[in-house]
Amino acid sequence: MNALTLSFTLNGNEVSIEISPNTLLVDLLRDNLRLTGTKVGCRDGECGACTVLLDGTPVNSCILPAAKVQGRSVTTIEGLAHENGQLSEIQEAFMHEGAAQCGFCTPGMIMNSTALLEKNPQPDDQEIRESLSGTLCRCTGYRKIVQAVVTAGEMKKSQG
Ligand code: FES
Ligand code: FES
Repeated sequence: MNALTLSFTLNGNEVSIEISPNTLLVDLLRDNLRLTGTKVGCRDGECGACTVLLDGTPVNSCILPAAKVQGRSVTTIEGLAHENGQLSEIQEAFMHEGAAQCGFCTPGMIMNSTALLEKNPQPDDQEIRESLSGTLCRCTGYRKIVQAVVTAGEMKKSQG
């Protein structure tokens, strides 16, 4: 199959790269671009470990052909810190609340939470659980994850 040249914005930077037309976004990110913060679990769109933001909306990168991001903006966990290197509020809150154990689900949880807080800066427990329902955690029981999202919302509010 003929290679194609893919151009898109990745974590705020323009990227242009030759790929095979059947490359999946998660493989482009992890294998070609060496951004291994995005995890691979089921490879079937079921577990949410591979979640990244496409134009601000969470997508499962394991089932998305990389060619679909042509001209669009992709954000991964590596792109969330502020320009001065300080972690984002949701990253800080996950650490503060002890919301990660093995950490495998954490990038997906954080990407989904980032999108949620962008839409709804003060979500309640139910809204958080619904928003994270497509991201599976086998370790934490979710309570601390939900608390971390609440805390991140409060941090954002207090920072205006
Ligand atoms: S690895 Fe993509 S949803 Fe599980
Ligand atoms: S912290 Fe281990 S899967 Fe969530």
